[in-house]
Amino acid sequence: MEFHNYINGEWVKGRSTFQTINPANEEVLAEVAQAETSHVDAAVSAATEAFKSWRLVPAPLRGELLYKVGDILKQKKEELAQLLTRDMGKVLAEARGDVQEAIDMAYFMGGEGRRLLGYTAPVEMPNKFGMAVRDPAGVVGLITPWNFPIAVPSWKIFPALVAGNTIIWKPSPETPAISAAFVRVFEEAGLPPGVFNLLLAPGAEVAKALVAHPGVRVLSFTGSTTTGRAIAESAARLNKKLSLEMGGKNAIIVMDDANLELVTDASLWAAFGTSGQRCTAASRLIVQKGIASKVKESLVERTKQLRLGDGLDPKVDVGPVINKTAVDRIHKYVQLGQKEGARALVGASVADVNGKGFFYSPTLFDGVQPGSTLEAEEIFGPVLSIIEVDSLEEAIEVNNRSQYGLSTSIFTQDVNRAFTAMRDIFTGLVYINHGTTGAEIQFPFGGVRGTGNGHREAGQAALEVFTEWKSIYVDYSGKLQRAQIDNREE
Ligand code: UN1
Repeated sequence: MEFHNYINGEWVKGRSTFQTINPANEEVLAEVAQAETSHVDAAVSAATEAFKSWRLVPAPLRGELLYKVGDILKQKKEELAQLLTRDMGKVLAEARGDVQEAIDMAYFMGGEGRRLLGYTAPVEMPNKFGMAVRDPAGVVGLITPWNFPIAVPSWKIFPALVAGNTIIWKPSPETPAISAAFVRVFEEAGLPPGVFNLLLAPGAEVAKALVAHPGVRVLSFTGSTTTGRAIAESAARLNKKLSLEMGGKNAIIVMDDANLELVTDASLWAAFGTSGQRCTAASRLIVQKGIASKVKESLVERTKQLRLGDGLDPKVDVGPVINKTAVDRIHKYVQLGQKEGARALVGASVADVNGKGFFYSPTLFDGVQPGSTLEAEEIFGPVLSIIEVDSLEEAIEVNNRSQYGLSTSIFTQDVNRAFTAMRDIFTGLVYINHGTTGAEIQFPFGGVRGTGNGHREAGQAALEVFTEWKSIYVDYSGKLQRAQIDNREE
């Protein structure tokens, strides 16, 4: 297999190539044409030119094109899911979910083509009319991670397109195959040349050039906090609009009255689904003391039963992590946790699956102390740290003291506790009797504190990033009417 960059409606090779590896077996999945900084200039020129006509396509027709993208994605769901699993490792059921999230977003944002709601309001002068409308922002740069290689980009691509922007997309170099296959769907749907451009490249050079390019007006980034902050610094120099979605240290709170079986199922799924490599993955289990030993017992037993392997095998529960660097990073955190006094109940080792691939054993830690590395830092792997507390108030306080603020869940049967938690938990997503993962596309997605910079993806909130408000006043009085002055007696 070979994959290329997509600029101005053409598949473009580079001077060199790089490889993408299947993390389940370390085989080379594809050779990929490597973009260079000159391609960034070409893509920005193409997007700038295409913007002139794309912004004038009536929004309902732009929306219809997105419906078509949704239709093709539906037809190709299985094919794309299989490629996605081979590109980054998540188990097939989850890969299907990843594609489904894009299908959902295609139809949701397609519908926005007939809304993109602005508003009118009364104005203070007679024979005058006022309205606020949404303008597209212009050329947008999207930088996305490998963990949701279709879903997360779709949160950015569909709202950007329906609002009339043109795009340069730089996905993670870990998932070039599925990224190119995704772009092909838009090509097949008939998106005009230059509206959606793709740049594939390892390293930071191309992304940096995109971020710093004066022709790019909006940037939307999902990835690590360190990279996000660097992007913010660069983007600030040119006053770019910037949406950041970064780290998480999400917690499941378990009250004494919780349904144990449900807590076990949900915790395993939220902590070890996608091998813990979700921004929304649960990495802290904050448990009230009365139920703690039962929860631990049940989790240990079930964690031991999880089957690791190639995500294409339907019997497998947990796939590989993304690469060798990830295995090493996770293991370093685990060792550090042990050094700091936490006790591994299960896992805590690099896993061997037929001697190939990048696997880490799902790991449970007990006795995790406030302020310790395991409690504070995002590991982005299958590691769940158990923290015991006395009360709901303490649980919420432990939850809220994290430097991140994306997703929290609470298990309780008590409606008073549930509502108190909904009010007092400070994260962008809150779940009641459900794990920390599984957000749906019609609601805003994002987090507070170190997780984000105040923007939200998904839902109608996504449009804020990709549109500029334009306030329009129409005076049909035929005379000078000075606001704040001519309608006063004095
Ligand atoms: C992510 O991990 O970056 O809510 C996105 C969820 C998924 C999306 C996760 N729908 O877990």
